[in-house]
Amino acid sequence: MNFALKPLDLRSLGGEKTDALLVFLTTSFKPDKDALSGWIAKVLKSGDLVPKAGQMLDIFRPDGLACSRLVLLHLGEGGAADVRKAVTAAAGLIKSAKPKALTLCFAQTLTAQALRVAVTTLADVTYVYTATKSKAEGRSVQKAVFVLPDAPSLQADFDRAVAAVAGIELAKEWGNRPANHATPTHLAHAARDLAKMPKIKCDILGPKEVAKLDMGAFLAVAQGSDEPLRFIVLRYSGAAKSSAPVVLVGKGITFDSGGISIKPAAEMDEMKFDMCGAASVLGVFRALADLQPAVNVVGLIAACENLPSGRAIKPGDVVTSMSGQTIEILNTDAEGRLVLCDALTYSERFKPRAVVDIATLTGACVIALGAVRSGFFCADEDLSRAMVTAGESSQDLCWPMPLDEDYADGLKTNFADVANVAGRPGGAITAAKFLQKFTAKFPWAHLDIAGTAWKSGTAKGATGRPVGLLVDYLMALDPQGHKA
Ligand code: BES
Ligand code: MN
Ligand code: ZN
Repeated sequence: MNFALKPLDLRSLGGEKTDALLVFLTTSFKPDKDALSGWIAKVLKSGDLVPKAGQMLDIFRPDGLACSRLVLLHLGEGGAADVRKAVTAAAGLIKSAKPKALTLCFAQTLTAQALRVAVTTLADVTYVYTATKSKAEGRSVQKAVFVLPDAPSLQADFDRAVAAVAGIELAKEWGNRPANHATPTHLAHAARDLAKMPKIKCDILGPKEVAKLDMGAFLAVAQGSDEPLRFIVLRYSGAAKSSAPVVLVGKGITFDSGGISIKPAAEMDEMKFDMCGAASVLGVFRALADLQPAVNVVGLIAACENLPSGRAIKPGDVVTSMSGQTIEILNTDAEGRLVLCDALTYSERFKPRAVVDIATLTGACVIALGAVRSGFFCADEDLSRAMVTAGESSQDLCWPMPLDEDYADGLKTNFADVANVAGRPGGAITAAKFLQKFTAKFPWAHLDIAGTAWKSGTAKGATGRPVGLLVDYLMALDPQGHKA
């Protein structure tokens, strides 16, 4: 989908040929003398457009206008949440009318944040998965023109939203692909493709190299599958070599059966989404390629399958992680933290200014926060503030969770330095406490996206979160590289 931003001129807009003209209004709209204003005034006066965000009125071939369809949508107060509601309200119509060209006209000033939400929401509601369908129709909208009164001053925000969309859609795409079409090798190829873009490089490590690095925890998870693991190292170099990078670490379990501690059959298919953290790292690099900010970013992806087999790890097995700490694997379904702990240790070599891991880590986080906010864990004040702020500015929200040392008590064991699970209570937090044991050498944050990375039910599919949050975090960084 192509995006364009244009300044508002109601008179010429009325004469523009487009398949669908969507006009978003707040109650403060002041009509002019042109034909489009006439229509808007008439509708507002009639009371047929209820003044609430998400309400709409659809007019076919309106007299005096060149568009095939005029849709008036109320924006309520016009805040970011209202904009999301209003654009989502138009989704059904877009799906059924299948316009190729779409014009979204905002009749009054929007905040930068609200405009970005308009762009990302439109992309979200028009996305169509096609990769494994034999007769794919794809997305109907080819071009979306956004028309606003103060377009020039919002251009940079608009461009950022468009770049974020490219990243979000790449993350959705890989998240949605079935596990047999999104193996660790496939993900490595996707990373290699990204390295064709400006300032991006990529190294792919296989089982031999990972064994040489002594990543005993990562290897332990991968050993149950015939599909070879991949450790992906992406680098975006936007600043001088001396500028410390941010490292993003993605959980890339391309299928999580649970291993010997096998999961129940119902909904096990959804465990193809267990690489959404990895997909979000790919997505962020896609956005960086477009935005070219003056920062350095490293992306690490630990990708493998978690399957039961004659060679799989067993409950009670003890393995040695890259950090040297030994781990008793009490539950083979707590595999995410095992692949992540070695990737976290690997990130030490970059002397990072901050490390952020992104993982569909725990069902407990789904219970705690649902699908609205990702779980956020961080003991560093500056990094924490920057991430929470980025969540808000992108409307890709997260919520701070505690990291008290007492939560680590349950990870004690008689047979290793640490166990990979504690009890059921506070499961998202004890998982974070496990990861924290591998992060002594850098400021660290952890995003548990188990509830936010995909939707279940009839709308089943990846959301592309938290690409929006991460892009905003990186774009707000001070390029000198001192503060998180
Ligand atoms: N990938 C799952 C987490 C998950 C579960 C995400 C459900 C989304 C929905 C993870 O590997 C896992 O299985 N975690 C276990 C941990 C437990 C064994 C301590 C869980 O949450 O049940
Ligand atoms: Mn698991
Ligand atoms: Zn998992």
